[in-house]
Amino acid sequence: MNLKAYIQENPFFLAPMAGVTVKPFRSFMREMGCGVMTSELVSARALKEKNSKTLPLIEFEEHHKPYGIQIFGESADIIAEGAKRAEDFGVDFIDLNLGCPVNKIVKKGAGSALLKDLKVLKKVLSALKSSVNIPVSLKIRTGWDHQTRNSDQVAQIALEEGFEWMSLHGRTRSQAYSGKADWNYIKQINSQTALRIVGNGDLMTGEQACSALKWSSCFAVMIGRACLNDPWIFLSAREHLEKGLKKKSRKSVLSKDYNQAMTCLKKHLENFYEERLFLLHLKKFAVWFSSGFPHSTEFRRKVFRERHKAFVIEIIEDFFNKNQSFKKTLPVYEPFLMQGHG
Ligand SMILES: Cc1cc2nc3c(=O)[nH]c(=O)nc-3n(C[C@H](O)[C@H](O)[C@H](O)COP(=O)(O)O)c2cc1C
Repeated sequence: MNLKAYIQENPFFLAPMAGVTVKPFRSFMREMGCGVMTSELVSARALKEKNSKTLPLIEFEEHHKPYGIQIFGESADIIAEGAKRAEDFGVDFIDLNLGCPVNKIVKKGAGSALLKDLKVLKKVLSALKSSVNIPVSLKIRTGWDHQTRNSDQVAQIALEEGFEWMSLHGRTRSQAYSGKADWNYIKQINSQTALRIVGNGDLMTGEQACSALKWSSCFAVMIGRACLNDPWIFLSAREHLEKGLKKKSRKSVLSKDYNQAMTCLKKHLENFYEERLFLLHLKKFAVWFSSGFPHSTEFRRKVFRERHKAFVIEIIEDFFNKNQSFKKTLPVYEPFLMQGHG
């Protein structure tokens, strides 16, 4: 696959989100127009040791391509071995997570902890690059904290080591999810380096994603949490991009009908999960999509209380039917969405 040509056509990446971008959700998002996607972060050690719990997290369909497995690890050797194993699955690239702020991962010296020691980082990137024959990329935060932001140095090392692109979430590790992603910094880093930069953080609408892409001149931009409020965000971003290029406007696959979107997602969830997990995921996604609509708190309580498949589906359909003509506003993220792994 010609990754560069693909990305020029669709520069809107789906951000990896642990517990969210599960295989059926990726299938759904692909139908909803997203570009390059990766698995959620998986442990390089678990891959190396062929841990059976990791396999469902990285499974993919051919139509997910371009698709990469995202790994994290605490040493160059483990990362290289995990990457080799990931390559065997026939993916298009390996993405290294250096952004994860979560204590459990950072304490092991993995995730964003590697941003603190650039000598070790160079060894890790070099080992990863030479362990596989497919492209490699990395995903980072702007730095450990505001005083030590060092994305320019990280980009330089990644460039020297032959990395394909670097996704940059515009927050430091210390910020976790507070404050705003610093797009001025992302733009500055992009202008200083020859490495391709994928800008990420707080893009809420398709129009915003398209403007951020043009304004920052990044190679691509990455969208995460917003697709749980507005699953049409990728189609909308592409429409804005194409309108700007004066091409014929893309016809949306689905109109902004949440029940239609749920039907599409339901089909993918049903194909992947047995009934208990199917219902759990269906409820979870329906509740995220319901955020911003009137009476969503009541809906959440009702849907989580219900156990029978047919009734769960009925409650969901009923809720979105009632809200069909309501125009949602921008999302206020749930506490859960303020503590992700990158
Ligand atoms: C629930 C959740 C899980 C996440 N898991 C991952 C992950 O596995 N790997 C990763 O690199 N980033 C992860 N992230 C970070 C996102 O990829 C992204 O960088 C971040 O959410 C900012 O983008 P957004 O404002 O568009 O959501 C996660 C974020 C959330 C909210």
